[in-house]
Amino acid sequence: MPVQSVLVIQGPNLNLLGTRQPAIYGHETLNDIHARLQRTAQSAGISLTSFQTNHEGALVDRIQQAPRDGIDFILMNPGAYTHTSVAIRDALSAVNIPFIEVHLSNIHAREAFRHRSFVSDIALGTICGLGSQGYDLALSYALQRGKES
Ligand code: DQA
Repeated sequence: MPVQSVLVIQGPNLNLLGTRQPAIYGHETLNDIHARLQRTAQSAGISLTSFQTNHEGALVDRIQQAPRDGIDFILMNPGAYTHTSVAIRDALSAVNIPFIEVHLSNIHAREAFRHRSFVSDIALGTICGLGSQGYDLALSYALQRGKES
């Protein structure tokens, strides 16, 4: 089944993209990235919704809401919660919607506490270190997924 409806979920501090440590996270804003993803989704004829929050519980709520919204694929950058949140991991496991974990920076080339991810092993795949292009690559994968079968 081709993917019809993608949800992009962004965790804490990603609302600051553009001004937040640009040497690590780049100069693009979250709006720039989401607008580009939206254009790609539109030309592919699928629906794409973007969501950002700084609150762990709100991320859990949004993940839980996804099946009711008919979401069939998730791109998620959990931000710092990547390295701490059993609750987000459990929510992603519970909804059982395929997802790609995206990080702008290469978390493995940074501080040791960023090397561990609570979601990588339940993700379809992980993209990190490719800047905002990681989201485009993940969306391109989602668009291809299911088309061959
Ligand atoms: C991040 C990496 C995390 O370690 C960090 O806490 C973030 C952003 C990234 O996209 O590179 O907030 O997820």
